[in-house]
Amino acid sequence: MLTTAPQEFEEQSLDNTLRPQSFSEYIGQDKIKKNLGIFIQAAKKRGENIDHVLLYGSAGLGKTTLAHIIAKEMGVNIKVTSGPAIEKVGDLGSILTNLEDGDVLFIDEIHRLNKLIEEVLYPAMEDYKLDIIIGKGPAARTIQLDLPHFTLIGATTRLGSLSNPLRNRFGSTHRLEFYNSQDIEKIVSRSARILGIETDEGGARVIALSSRQTPRVANRILKRVRDFAQIHDNEIITADLAKEALALYEIDHLGLEPTDRLMLETLIKKFKGGPAGIQSLAAVTGEELQTIEDVYEPYLIQIGFLTRTPRGRIVTKEGYDHLGIPMPDEQAEKLLG
Ligand SMILES: Nc1ncnc2c1ncn2[C@@H]1O[C@H](COP(=O)(O)OP(=O)(O)O)[C@@H](O)[C@H]1O
Ligand SMILES: [Mg+2]
Repeated sequence: MLTTAPQEFEEQSLDNTLRPQSFSEYIGQDKIKKNLGIFIQAAKKRGENIDHVLLYGSAGLGKTTLAHIIAKEMGVNIKVTSGPAIEKVGDLGSILTNLEDGDVLFIDEIHRLNKLIEEVLYPAMEDYKLDIIIGKGPAARTIQLDLPHFTLIGATTRLGSLSNPLRNRFGSTHRLEFYNSQDIEKIVSRSARILGIETDEGGARVIALSSRQTPRVANRILKRVRDFAQIHDNEIITADLAKEALALYEIDHLGLEPTDRLMLETLIKKFKGGPAGIQSLAAVTGEELQTIEDVYEPYLIQIGFLTRTPRGRIVTKEGYDHLGIPMPDEQAEKLLG
């Protein structure tokens, strides 16, 4: 699988090797770079921290990278954790009390923080205070600790799953967009240079087109195509070679993999093109609901093969066309709403 979030060590290390270190190396997302650039400059001028920042967007679009760049541009340390890693209130307490003034605390998948922990986070974000309860029962009492003035950077793939009070405590919220093909091509060329892989323009373009408009996917595909090239004793990745490799890995020219096609096909064959709820789709395809929501669906929606309605997901004309299945007339009506 090329599309899922990084899990294996090798994937993590690829992410780290290729991670841009500054705004100037970070390709695309111009609006975000500009806004954050202004915040950072202004904060530095005042000798203050920047306000808490929330980053949201699909997996692999560059949220973690941005968090590191922000810390670097501010010239401060970054401490990294994630929603699911903070299991107890005490875990958060010890992270917060160990920060230093100015530090960035990066909480990845912040929508997965549990409610109790969120409530500890509110006063920490707002007033840099930490309430802790000492003792149990009638003897219990609360003491309040002063915390260092830190900047929280939260990242999430799902803004909608964040509670309102948490969302409102961020000074700014930035949505990362899918990348256009020129920018992905630049990313492929940059990564190739770093990894010492030679690609010609056509090769970089073919890889870019199959990369789901997502840097992480571009980097993974580049690496897989390089493996293919090496096995076949090719020095340079050309368009033809890239196409051959992608065909072997069953990635089509839009970056769809067998599971994406299975999603569309299942909707068409088992649910008459939809609308179908995501639970039913997960049950029938045997894929995890969360993976469907975070990985498959956003891109299928982005390229217009799927639309989301209050009654469920519907396959569009473009989706039918891509699979070479004729769209029944009544489907057009469903799409009209
Ligand atoms: N704007 C960018 N320019 C160049 N490379 C990028 C950019 N955004 C992401 N990448 C690459 O994609 C990989 C995944 O990015 P990451 O920040 O981990 O995504 P996310 O945290 O949103 O899932 C990084 O290792 C980096 O090499
Ligand atoms: Mg990340």
